[in-house]
Amino acid sequence: MTQDIISKIQQLKAERDAIILAHNYQIAEIQDVADFTGDSLELSRKAAEVKESVIVFCGVHFMAETAAILAPEKTVLLPDKNSGCPMANMITADQLRELKAQHPDALVVCYVNSTADVKAECDYCCTSGNALKLVGALPRDREIIFVPDRHLGSFVAEMLDRELILWPGYCATHVRITVEDIEKARIAHPGAPVIVHPECPKMLRDAADYSLSTGQMVALAAESDCNEFLMGTEVGMLHRLKTDFPNKEFYPVAEHAVCPNMKKNTLEKLLWSLENMETVITVPEDVASRALKSLENMVAVL
Ligand code: 13P
Ligand code: SF4
Repeated sequence: MTQDIISKIQQLKAERDAIILAHNYQIAEIQDVADFTGDSLELSRKAAEVKESVIVFCGVHFMAETAAILAPEKTVLLPDKNSGCPMANMITADQLRELKAQHPDALVVCYVNSTADVKAECDYCCTSGNALKLVGALPRDREIIFVPDRHLGSFVAEMLDRELILWPGYCATHVRITVEDIEKARIAHPGAPVIVHPECPKMLRDAADYSLSTGQMVALAAESDCNEFLMGTEVGMLHRLKTDFPNKEFYPVAEHAVCPNMKKNTLEKLLWSLENMETVITVPEDVASRALKSLENMVAVL
């Protein structure tokens, strides 16, 4: 049955001139059928350069929106249109405009986990993979507003030793991992490094050995001499790592770190998406052109 669906997806993909992009947190079956699996930065880069006319984006809504902004001539499909990121919805463009009015001279940086409307209000966009580099390249004499993730923001502020004006947004999945989870994992696998995502609260980052984006986690696993790793992030990451490094062991710090929105895309919905060319994700032109500037400014700085 599953093989049947996969064959149909492959056939339709060719007929529609489509490419399937998947985030590292997608379910195993989706990662396996995808043409490319990566982190937010890698997926944005890929979306901007693909030759195919259709991008099926297996991720959450803001990722498909970002692809639509970066590749306006392509058709971008999201298999489950309800796969939104709660963090991205924790700030609206109106709320950001109010914050900007309180700090009229501040530069405004948004995490890519934000809506197109919010990106359109910002000077720079960043991902967890380049937030340190991006904010580190901004003038030290300017105030900086960083939205919406207060945990990634506090990580950047701490690493760069500079104050940021933060918004109280957070990832509902990463905040569910506890220091106790890390302690238990260390006891079960002594010596294995603990890697968490910078969306984790400071307490967890302090208890871990590394705070890395999902793409950086893959790079660390490739470079490290260690054979065992404890992963403090969404559990979809384990499939990506086990596929790339079959001779190394990866254990979840918390089995319950599951992002329900990342899990909404299934093989059946992916097939439906290609069959019906739905759901097409579009961004109004005026919003897209302003949001594109914040994405282009990110690339210009790095
Ligand atoms: P990265 O894959 O860019 O590290 O992002 C993690 C995430 O939470 C995406 O929603
Ligand atoms: Fe949003 Fe967190 Fe899910 Fe990523 S893992 S999509 S940040 S809720």
